[in-house]
Amino acid sequence: MGIDLGICLVTLIFSIKDVSCWGANTNTTSFPSKYKKPECLKSPLETESRLLATGGPANPYNRSFDSLQLPILGMLEDPSIKILFDIQDGIRYVLQTKNEYTLVYHGTGTTGMTGVLDNMIEPGEKVLVGIIGYWATVASNIAKRLGANVIQMEKPHGSRFSLSEIEAALKQHRPNILYLINGESTTGVYQPLEGIGELCYKYDCISIIDVVATVGQQPIKMDENKIDVVYLSSQKGCGGIVGLAPVSFSPRAMRKVRRRQTVPKFYQTDITEQADAWYITMPVEQRNEAFLHSISMSLLYSLREGLANVVEEGIENVWQRHADTHRYIQFRARKLGLEPYVKNPEDRLIGTTIFWAPKGKDAVKIEHYMLEKFNIEISVGLFVDMGKVIRVGLFGSNANRATATVVMDALEFALNSTDTNSE
Ligand SMILES: Cc1ncc(COP(=O)(O)O)c(C=O)c1O
Repeated sequence: MGIDLGICLVTLIFSIKDVSCWGANTNTTSFPSKYKKPECLKSPLETESRLLATGGPANPYNRSFDSLQLPILGMLEDPSIKILFDIQDGIRYVLQTKNEYTLVYHGTGTTGMTGVLDNMIEPGEKVLVGIIGYWATVASNIAKRLGANVIQMEKPHGSRFSLSEIEAALKQHRPNILYLINGESTTGVYQPLEGIGELCYKYDCISIIDVVATVGQQPIKMDENKIDVVYLSSQKGCGGIVGLAPVSFSPRAMRKVRRRQTVPKFYQTDITEQADAWYITMPVEQRNEAFLHSISMSLLYSLREGLANVVEEGIENVWQRHADTHRYIQFRARKLGLEPYVKNPEDRLIGTTIFWAPKGKDAVKIEHYMLEKFNIEISVGLFVDMGKVIRVGLFGSNANRATATVVMDALEFALNSTDTNSE
């Protein structure tokens, strides 16, 4: 007992000495910096509020934005793990799927695109990519980098593939993977999913669908449409902020993953690694072994709350709200004489609508006018007819009549102003 007490006292004295010793070394002259403090970082950050009526991101749902202020929990705590499960359920709900392998990558929609392609493609495999705008060309480039034999089928901007065109291409090329974009935000085109999954079953290939610009805006119905893999982003219809990329893999897609002869190229988005980290293949009790990489609790809060907002409203009501807003925008645009970029109304994306800038008007000047005079940000063309079109995105929290009225009123002012005339 006496010896124990002695050891304790000696340890305490040493540790106090250690602390004072470290304290003495905190004199900053011991660590001179050769670089001056940057002037720009001496004042606090200030931003203005904006109505984001762009191709994306949208203003997040209020509860999603507010959640960024919540205290940050440790990522392996029980309440944090519950948030992971909440998000998985929320993603399954917006996608209308029961897929077990539904989880979230850290990164943007492009990370989701890269990750799913990497998991599904083995070098040399044939990937048939349907191009209806810019984003499929990105997917095509990624697939080539992954060593795929990429076959591109293309439609003129503003149009989409018919089911029979897709079937003919599948029959001709017999690819391992069919890649399509459900909503192409650069051309405002909607590619329906009905029948796509069936065709992929018939021609024995895996369907990968980009639902970034449709999820939480238009029905996806992943299981009903027999879609194998999808990816999305946290910023649009889910009502969160940029930074997370949810993905979902069907049991059929996972069978292909398990049959792989090679491992995916990227460790962080490897679905089998992530499945452990999201406790799909690893029990919560082994949480320390499940660790894959640090996770951003704040981003996850924001996505959880965006999804909770959708759940509270009900997905059918969310789809209806987006459809109503779209109809109203079309109505106002007709009155303004704006010509829609996508001719066939049924091929138009609901959340992002594209119009040709009217004759004598400059799309970029319209964009600047709306921002300067009304604090509203719209988009111009993104790699597609740049400078010739304007894109108005109203989705997530912004898909409502009141916001659409504000945006279209401002657009009317912009079009009537001589400031937006092209030279
Ligand atoms: C249809 C579509 N796919 C992919 C992306 C890429 O997403 P991110 O910009 O978040 O990487 C976007 C972005 O707007 C998109 O609209």
